[in-house]
Order: sequence, then structure tokens, then C-alpha cells
Amino acid sequence: MLDKLGWKKSHKVQQQSIQQRMTNLNLEDVPNHIAIIMDGNGRWANKKALPRFVGHREGMQNIRRITRAANSMGVGAITLYAFSTENWKRPSKEVEFLMRLPEEFLTAFIPELMELNIRVEMIGEQEGVPDYTNRAIGKAREETKNNTGMILNFAFNYGGRREIVLAVQQLAQLVQEGTLEPQDIDEDLIAQHLMTSKLPEPDLLIRTSGEIRLSNFLLWQLAYTEFWFTDVHWPEFTAETLLEAVESFQKRNRRYGGLKGE
Ligand code: IPE
Ligand code: IPE
Ligand code: MG
Repeated sequence: MLDKLGWKKSHKVQQQSIQQRMTNLNLEDVPNHIAIIMDGNGRWANKKALPRFVGHREGMQNIRRITRAANSMGVGAITLYAFSTENWKRPSKEVEFLMRLPEEFLTAFIPELMELNIRVEMIGEQEGVPDYTNRAIGKAREETKNNTGMILNFAFNYGGRREIVLAVQQLAQLVQEGTLEPQDIDEDLIAQHLMTSKLPEPDLLIRTSGEIRLSNFLLWQLAYTEFWFTDVHWPEFTAETLLEAVESFQKRNRRYGGLKGE
């Protein structure tokens, strides 16, 4: 009986259109900040016997679709892991291709971002990144800076450990200058010195393509984030996959170390 009911229920869910499922979302409980590790561009291309760079280009295009989808769900911010401090280890041809993508993609995306009132932000270090890449990201930030809607935050040349190292250096500097007492260093102060100081902590972390690890992403900020993993490669991650993640998020019980229901 229960089995049968359960089957019927899931069957019914599958029959619902995305629109119906969107309207069934609890609007009070949409994740305010979603962080995404966009993984699997290379494997997606491999699967289709295409060169890896085709996967990267397709992955970049997918950012447009997912930005629109997140925006229409009422998400406040998305942080997309686009290039890690470890990705420099890849063959120079691939790194070069990845460095060209913001220039190729962001400029074309700006009119759509303006129309959607979306603001581009960036975390990561500009040092070491080619000028043309920094310029493209800088231009998108500058042109969208007065937009008041969703934040589209790129993690580019970003590493969670590097971010913590830089914050520690800044705090040590203040102590050395005599403007900060070591005992006044607390969690809030550390958070204020991270690259994400202006963003709320992520409510939901999504990683595509089957790897169950963080790969140095937002180590401090993810302390109480809900995680959601999928085998889907990033170029194939759709609005429906995002909806599935948000539906899963809405069934979670976030306790923060406290007790259920409190
Ligand atoms: C993610 O796809 C994009 C970047 C890391 C830049 P990958 O390039 O890591 O794809 P896989 O993991 O090799 O399939
Ligand atoms: C994480 O993916 C970084 C980005 C998505 C930008 P990687 O493909 O670099 O991670 P690992 O090497 O599988 O841990
Ligand atoms: Mg990968």
C-alpha cells in the first residue's frame, strides 16, 4: 500500500511541468545565495568526442541559462567557480583558452544582464591573470554596478586557502600597526576580511559531474551550507536540474547544531 502510494506520488511529480514545480516552490525558502562548482566541461566534450575547449565554451554559454533560471526563482546571489588557483596546473593551451572566455562571453552578456538588473561581482586575485581577462571582468562589473537585482559573482583565480591566507595577512598587519588587538579577532572580523565580505554565506552548494569534493572552494563560507551533488556535467545542467536542487534544499532541516524545529 505504502509502496504503491509512494510510487504514485513520485509518478505524479515526474508528470509535473517545470512551471508547475516552480509555482510549488516555497517562495519564503528559496536559497538566497547558491554557490556552484561548474565541473565536467572536459568530460562532456570527451563523451561527444570533441576537444575539451568545446566543453568550456558550451559551459560558458550555460551560465546565461542558469543565471536566468536562478534570477526567475528569486535567488539573491549565485557564485560560480570558474577558475581555481589550482587550475594553473593545466596545459598552457587550455589555461589560455579559459583566460579568453570572459572577454568572449561577458561583453556579449552585458545587455542581458542590464535587462535583468543583475550585478556582476568577482572574487579571486587579479594578479597573475592576463590584462585582457581582468579588463573584461572589470568592464562587466563597472557597467552593471548600479543594478540592484541578483548578484552574479564569479570566482576566478580563486582558492579558499589563498583567501584565508590573505585575510590573515591583513589582520596581522593591523595588529603590527597597533590598530587591532589579537583578542579582538573573532569570526565576524575574519569574515569581513574575506573576498565574500559583502555577500551572505551560501545556503546551497551545487557540484556537477559526480565529484564529491570542494576543490578549495569557499572553505570558510560553506560551514553550514547544504550540499547537493549531481552526475550531470555542467554543460548539460539545466533550469530543471537547478529546480531539482532547490526542491531538495527545501526539504532539508537546517539545524546549525541546535535541535530540530527550534
Ligand atoms: C570545469 O570543467 C571547468 C574548469 C575547471 C575550468 P573541467 O575542465 O574541470 O572538466 P572535467 O572535470 O575535466 O570534466
Ligand atoms: C574545480 O574543478 C574548479 C572549477 C570548477 C573551476 P576541478 O576540475 O579543477 O577540480 P578537481 O581537480 O577535480 O578537484
Ligand atoms: Mg573538473
